[in-house]
Amino acid sequence: MKVEWKAETPRKIQHYAGAVYPKENPDLEDLLTSADVDHIAEIFQTPLTGSYNWDYQIQDDRIKKLYDLGKQLNWDPEIDIDWDRPWPHEERQPEMMNLHEYEPYLAMDERTRSEFWLHMNAWSLSQFLHGEQGALLVASQLCSCAPTLNAKLYAGSQTFDEARHVEVFNKYLQQRIGVMYPINTHLKSIIDKILTDERWDMKFIGMQIVIEGLALSAFNTTRETTPDPVLKDVVYLVTRDEARHVTFGVNYLEEFVKTLSDEEREERAEFAYQACVVSRERLVATDVFRHFGWDVEEARKQVLDGFVMSTFRNLLFQRVIPNLNRIGLLTDRIRPKFEELGILDYENLATDGDINWSALERPLDTQEAQSYEQSMLAEFAKEHEKQEADKASSAA
Ligand SMILES: [Fe+2]
Ligand SMILES: [Fe+2]
Repeated sequence: MKVEWKAETPRKIQHYAGAVYPKENPDLEDLLTSADVDHIAEIFQTPLTGSYNWDYQIQDDRIKKLYDLGKQLNWDPEIDIDWDRPWPHEERQPEMMNLHEYEPYLAMDERTRSEFWLHMNAWSLSQFLHGEQGALLVASQLCSCAPTLNAKLYAGSQTFDEARHVEVFNKYLQQRIGVMYPINTHLKSIIDKILTDERWDMKFIGMQIVIEGLALSAFNTTRETTPDPVLKDVVYLVTRDEARHVTFGVNYLEEFVKTLSDEEREERAEFAYQACVVSRERLVATDVFRHFGWDVEEARKQVLDGFVMSTFRNLLFQRVIPNLNRIGLLTDRIRPKFEELGILDYENLATDGDINWSALERPLDTQEAQSYEQSMLAEFAKEHEKQEADKASSAA
C-alpha cells in the first residue's frame, strides 16, 4: 500500500478506461491505470469529544425503529442493480442550463458538445460521490459522540449505509461514465466545517439536516430526469436510506435543541444558515466551465440567470427549511436572512419529522423506481412554458 499525503485537495480530473457512456472517448491521454494509482489522502484534524454510554438503555422509540429498519432494508449494489443495461438514447437539453444561446457553447463543434455534456454529468455525480464520503466520515464520528445508546447504534447502521453509497456512486462513475471530477470547493468547505467542529449537534445539523436534506431533493430530481435506468435504480436505493437519515436527524435534534440556551440556539441557527448559503454556491459546475476554457464568472452568471437553475436552486431547499423550522432553528433573528435568499416560503411544508412509516418500510422495488411519478417534472415543464410565454408576450 502506497499512500500519498496531500496538504491540499487534488484538483485533477480522473479518467477511467472502458466506461459504457456512448460518446467517443474523451481525452484519455492522461489516463491512470490501477497500477499507477497511489492512495491519495488529505489529513483533517478534529477535536472530537466522544462519550461512552453505560446504562445501555434501549428506549423503544422512533430512533430504535429507524435503526431496526436500517437493518432490514440493507441492499447490495452488486445484487440489487442490473449494471448491464445499455445506455439509452439521450436528448441534449442545453436550454435546461440556459446555454442554448450562449456564444461559447454554440461555438463548440458536435464532438466537443458531446464531451461537454459527459463532463457536466460526471461533475454532478462526482459531487454526489464526494458528499457521500463526507457523510461516511461524519456518520462514523456520530457513533462516538452521540450521547444515547440508540443513537450510537443508529449511527453505526448509517455508517454502513454511507459506505454502500460511496461504493455505488464510485462504481457508477468509473464503469458507466469514465470521468471523475474533484470535489467542488464550496462543498469541501462545508464538509470540512462539519468534520472539524467538536460539537456533535453541529455535525447533526450540518450533515443530517442541511447536506442530506439537499441531497434528498437533488436525488429525486436526478431520478426523474436521467435517461439511464441504472442511475434511476442507484438513486432510488440511496434515497430510501437518506430519507431514514434525515428523519433520524430531525427527530433526534428536535428534542435536543429544546435543551439549549437562546444564545446556543442562535449559534446553531447561524451555522445552518451559513451551510445553506454555501450549498447554493456549490450547485454550479464552474470546474467544467474552466476545463472547457470558458470565462468562469460569465458562464456561472449565464447558468444562474436561466429559469431552470434559478428555480432548482430554491426548490432544493423544500426539505431543509421545514426541517429547520421543526427543530427550532428558524429563529426570529435568522428568518429575514432566509427570506432574502427567497426560500423562507417553504417553512410550512411537510417536515421529515412526521414520519411516513409506510414509505420508509416499503420493500425494495426498483421496478417502481422506473415508473416513479413524473408529476413534478410535468409541473415544472408547464411552469417553464408559462414563463416563456409571459416573457414572449411582454417582449412583444
Ligand atoms: Fe448517503
Ligand atoms: Fe445519508
